[in-house]
Amino acid sequence: MVKIAHISDLHFGRANEAALNALMLAINSERPDLVAITGDFTQTGSKREFEEASQFLASLSAPILAVPGNHDTPVYNLPLRFLKPWARFEKHIGAAQLQIATAGDTVVIGLNSARRARMRFNWSYGKLSRKIIEVAASIAERESANGKTVFVAAHHPFEKGPNRAGAEIVGNGGYALQRFAECGVSAVMTGHVHLSSAGPLAVTQNQILSIQCGASGGARERGEAAGFGLITVEGRDGVSIDYRHFDLNAYKQGRRFAFSRSGSEWETDNNL
Ligand SMILES: [Fe+2]
Ligand SMILES: [Fe+2]
Repeated sequence: MVKIAHISDLHFGRANEAALNALMLAINSERPDLVAITGDFTQTGSKREFEEASQFLASLSAPILAVPGNHDTPVYNLPLRFLKPWARFEKHIGAAQLQIATAGDTVVIGLNSARRARMRFNWSYGKLSRKIIEVAASIAERESANGKTVFVAAHHPFEKGPNRAGAEIVGNGGYALQRFAECGVSAVMTGHVHLSSAGPLAVTQNQILSIQCGASGGARERGEAAGFGLITVEGRDGVSIDYRHFDLNAYKQGRRFAFSRSGSEWETDNNL
């Protein structure tokens, strides 16, 4: 059994200190095997915000896998944004484009879905390049063949679905899901829309679970209190997610989702 704490959208620069302190205590007391953080560490990509984010990460006792979000490239320093968009992320947080973390028999592949700019589109939408999708697919295929459970973590949702806001999905998301399903990926972990949800993705014939984390930094967003997810992976056939939400001064139990695999599909566990 592997326990992964899923945090997202901390947005240092406008985060709530009491919620962050409670988050650190809650995560450390759960003693997860891995903390996966799906982007938007900062609000404007400033040096100060990254320094605060880095200090927060240092206060967590578990290993960390972190991917950037659309807020993690400088907003005001335009030369840096265009010439070295991920320099601050890589200095303060970690590798920006690709990360791989192993926790027991689970492997999490972290991908950068954020872009410094996109022609014709709102820059916040993000995109995965075909090249990085193929790199991730080949890693997933290898790890899956070795008996590992494989998750992919990225900032932007791959598909619209229940509780997803608007059309804020990642470019090439449909293609990525198709390749990930072919290569044995069990779940995608995402953030960006500041709402939590979990469920099988119909677009992949329910072979892949979507695990969506809300904003963890303290600001109440879209009607949902700050929160994080505690994911329990039981081999390749069982995944559950306990959402915890900040209430006054501590994190309290929220919704719980559990899924079990039947053939190649994920089914919702109705015994909850
Ligand atoms: Fe965000
Ligand atoms: Fe975002």
